[in-house]
Amino acid sequence: MRTIVSMPGDGIGKVVTPEAIRLLEAAGFKANYVHGDIGWEFWQKEGNALPQRTIDLLEEHKIGLFGAITSKPKDAAVAELAPELQDKGYVYFSPIVSLRQHFNLDICTRPCKAFKGNPLNFIRQDGKGGFEEPMVDTVIFRQNTEGMYGGVEWTNPPTQVRDALDTHPKMKTFANVKNEDMAISTRILSRGATQRIISAAFEYAKKHGYTNVTVCEKPNVLRETSGMMVNEAKEIKKDYPDIQLWDTNIDAQMMWLTKNPEDYGVIVAENMFGDIISDGFAGLVGGLGFACSANVGDDVAVFEPTHGSAPKYEELKPSIVNPIAMFLSACMMLDHIDEKEIADKIRKAIAEVIEEGKTKTYDMMKIRGGADVFEKGACTTEEMTDAVIAKL
Ligand code: NAI
Ligand code: MG
Repeated sequence: MRTIVSMPGDGIGKVVTPEAIRLLEAAGFKANYVHGDIGWEFWQKEGNALPQRTIDLLEEHKIGLFGAITSKPKDAAVAELAPELQDKGYVYFSPIVSLRQHFNLDICTRPCKAFKGNPLNFIRQDGKGGFEEPMVDTVIFRQNTEGMYGGVEWTNPPTQVRDALDTHPKMKTFANVKNEDMAISTRILSRGATQRIISAAFEYAKKHGYTNVTVCEKPNVLRETSGMMVNEAKEIKKDYPDIQLWDTNIDAQMMWLTKNPEDYGVIVAENMFGDIISDGFAGLVGGLGFACSANVGDDVAVFEPTHGSAPKYEELKPSIVNPIAMFLSACMMLDHIDEKEIADKIRKAIAEVIEEGKTKTYDMMKIRGGADVFEKGACTTEEMTDAVIAKL
């Protein structure tokens, strides 16, 4: 039997992860679950939010189901360390970013698919005095390890870095800026990783019947990095005669987001642009309660909802949060390990609950979260799970 490393993490991660496992079991997916420590508690107690023992578990079992973690700014992080760890030079790193980098989980997939009847679906005017609801079905492929989030950055860059940069003619603009007054974040792409993310996008489009792949970049300005994305995409496209290659600029794509989102099949982008565009599309299909994702490397894969730990709802009992983003992430895990039949069964059950419209978490009712949402007709997190299980 397969073993899944379950990493609930912090806050509502501890709520939605066990609910997902309860659903997986009800749907007939047989697995062992081992618990992986991750998150704020381990930063505070051990000075490491991603303990080595969790890395070892993933190394061994390959598949992780992750809830969410809490991150705090540098100073707040150090202030919350156990007293005996203070002043020992511990530096906080986001454990999910560390996981992606450690296992080279370079392919991030974020499907944004509208469910029929979801009251949070985007609608627009049809130009004839009425409204239309485009059925968005767009899958974002985000390069997950390099680019703007690669972490190669400085405030007050060392002299060698400054000297190297000064060889570039455009550095004239900064000639009078002292190093200590300078902040630098780099955007480095490697050809290998660029080819991998673009190939993954085309393969996905082919396998799932999407007719277009869009590279969403900014090659007119970011001539080198976006240029590499677009050029590699043109090369790779040659192997996929039935799939069209489009390219859009990230800024224009955000402007068009609401104009014709239903036209886009698969979109591929660098790390930061992929982050932006996937949040944009997620907003059209229900937002954080529905946004799921996969982080896939050659060897290891971790599946997680896009949302964070929502600390303000952590203490609410019963819980009010929407577990569907976590359920859909668990379905992506099933797809990945060739359990597509069970995944489809769960997705169908979720679709039925949404379309029926009787069971809604507070976010689906567009009301403010809090202990009083049940009086207003919202269901609890567990009731949502129960409703999905009942449809299986
Ligand atoms: P968040 O995603 O935790 O929450 C933002 C808002 O979205 C919440 O106030 C809540 O109203 C709503 N929300 C989130 N998940 C929901 C769900 N399942 N159902 C219904 N409503 C939901 O982001 P926020 O508040 O910016 O960050 C909170 C903490 O989470 C921070 O420490 C942040 O660093 C961390 N974070 C972690 C992520 C991860 O684990 N991958 C991703 C984003 C944030
Ligand atoms: Mg984001």
